[in-house]
Amino acid sequence: MKKILIAYATNAGSTADVAEMVKQTIGNKTLQAEVKPLAEASDLAHYDAVIIGAPMIIGWHREARRFLRTHREALSGKPFACFLTAMSLTETRETAIDGIPVQVDPGLAQAPRNPKRLSPKELYALPYNYVHPILKSAAPARPLAVGLFGGSLNLFTLKWPARIFVLMAIQARPGDIRDEAFIKNWADNLRSQILKNWLT
Ligand SMILES: Cc1cc2nc3c(=O)[nH]c(=O)nc-3n(C[C@H](O)[C@H](O)[C@H](O)COP(=O)(O)O)c2cc1C
Repeated sequence: MKKILIAYATNAGSTADVAEMVKQTIGNKTLQAEVKPLAEASDLAHYDAVIIGAPMIIGWHREARRFLRTHREALSGKPFACFLTAMSLTETRETAIDGIPVQVDPGLAQAPRNPKRLSPKELYALPYNYVHPILKSAAPARPLAVGLFGGSLNLFTLKWPARIFVLMAIQARPGDIRDEAFIKNWADNLRSQILKNWLT
């Protein structure tokens, strides 16, 4: 039986639930799916495919970028994909970044006020600015897909500097905008791509 690892980083816990949603969809009788925090996922040799998920915490979670840099060689030899959770994203309707297919949760993306003149916050939150550093950390390994999902933000769990950053710099509104149907649909499509990848 083939094995797939869904490894995640998290700051406040909600990305762990997203990893579980992916597992529930992608695992089946012939594909055994396992969820682990990144800190517990050191040996990728046991897995035939890998999915790495993490929140945007002033860039994709540091631990996740480090994980990609450490394991880029192992990831080159098997299908892998990434996802991020976030509270702010500028809508651009891009379907690929650096040639990698990206799938954006429409509930997360927000149209810029003036598409001809983006505000600093809208520039910061461009899909390219979120995804390009992820791809750079993984290179030369290239993910099959990158999912950009709405996340969950509770200001009461944050220390003051983080609260101020989230409110002022990214102007994120607290709440839970995770879209289970979108996440599961993403995982379903990804399973087909992974199966196809094994056959070619
Ligand atoms: C310190 C901090 C920085 C964040 N930076 C960003 C960001 O740059 N862009 C964004 O869209 N969301 C940002 N967020 C929102 C988180 O990505 C979002 O709340 C995510 O779902 C949290 O996942 P977690 O519960 O697994 O930690 C930030 C949140 C915190 C606390």
